[in-house]
Amino acid sequence: MDTNDTALDLAALAAPNMSPVLGRYMDRSWSHGIGHRLYETSGKAYLDFANGIAVTALGHSHPRVTAAVHAQVDKLMGPVHAIGFAEPTVRLAAMLADTFPDPLDTVMFLNSGSEVIDGALKLARRVTGRPAIISFRGAFHGRTIGATSVTSSSLNYRKGYEPLLPSVYQTVYPAVYRYYAGDEEKAIADALKHFDGLLMTTVAPSDVAAVIIEPIQGEGGYYPAPAAFLQGLRERCSRHGILLIADEVQSGFGRTGRMWAFEHSGIVPDVVVTAKAIANGLPLSAIVTSRDLQERWGRGAHGTTYGGNPVACAAGVAVLETIADEGLVENARLRGAELAGGLRELMAEDQGIGDVRGPGLMIGVEFVKDRTTREPDGARADAVCARAADAGLLLLSCGIAHQVIRWIPPVNVTVDEVEEALRIFEGALKG
Ligand SMILES: Cc1ncc(COP(=O)(O)O)c(C=O)c1O
Repeated sequence: MDTNDTALDLAALAAPNMSPVLGRYMDRSWSHGIGHRLYETSGKAYLDFANGIAVTALGHSHPRVTAAVHAQVDKLMGPVHAIGFAEPTVRLAAMLADTFPDPLDTVMFLNSGSEVIDGALKLARRVTGRPAIISFRGAFHGRTIGATSVTSSSLNYRKGYEPLLPSVYQTVYPAVYRYYAGDEEKAIADALKHFDGLLMTTVAPSDVAAVIIEPIQGEGGYYPAPAAFLQGLRERCSRHGILLIADEVQSGFGRTGRMWAFEHSGIVPDVVVTAKAIANGLPLSAIVTSRDLQERWGRGAHGTTYGGNPVACAAGVAVLETIADEGLVENARLRGAELAGGLRELMAEDQGIGDVRGPGLMIGVEFVKDRTTREPDGARADAVCARAADAGLLLLSCGIAHQVIRWIPPVNVTVDEVEEALRIFEGALKG
């Protein structure tokens, strides 16, 4: 498409009235999205590997999702929870439950990632009758007060908001590359030692309602939790009657080459929360547990006005059908292996890349000033993202110093698009 110099400048139009509080990686003016391309008002096309941060996992205006949304808008748009049930919501609950191992079979829908985090924390406190929550340093769980209380990926998320929820304890996360120089065994042993120490010296296990963890730490820097660490947590939680909450808001829906990232470790959490890709862009999220837990939570113990909206759920049904019919979990695994392979080839030529890691299509590329000290190089990662965007590829960073470029292409990305992105990235590294 030709670019147009008189294109709408949405940033200029937004300036007088839109809040400056939302952090943005860029301030481009977007017109529309088709498939894996996003178009500026100028007409310039970009290969979108940002996806609204892992939200539009099937790409933009996916025909099946769009058709399902159109059909549902004409039928029933508003919420009906207070007076009964809507068909897409009931169908999606059944389909979603089917993607989980036993005994996770009961779904509560809300609207956003932060909301399901708060809901899960409330469930844990009410069901166990215990006050304390343990979360991990570097975690990001969202921006409501509950979610902020268990978040520590950046001071900016917490500063000025104290006092946050009481009885929240944060412990060491085994970020293998960043804090253990790639020594996974040491990372596991150290993080479990800190966890055990917390329960021995600071908070009694019988006071702890829940442990909450991202199976792959997201905003914190795309650090996968080693399988043995998650297994160690699972064993401790079971021993002490503590609920294990897996935050799959970013890592779920096939992105990692398994439907749920916790499956890589063989554990089954007590509570799984998910959002983002669930409805390919419409606001929807879910708390999934055993029937028993939500029965014990109790009727009216939590609620929502919009959660489980029929239109969002119709989109969710189309998302799950498409993932199953098109083999997209397997596609994420295969394309992810190709992408990681290509990125590792580029790393071999570039001393400023310290690590390429992560399963499937949830890959972190960490930039460092020196491979021995592993000093983060956020300035380089930012510059590479900016050059990639100028060349037509949208990538986002994460990590404490923005030093990690995260690769989260749509789960139906093609071989050719992976190759195209790698070539643009190669150019951006050199620029
Ligand atoms: C792992 C994780 N949990 C929770 C959230 C919060 O989700 P939301 O922004 O929808 O409230 C996010 C958002 O990025 C996330 O990545």
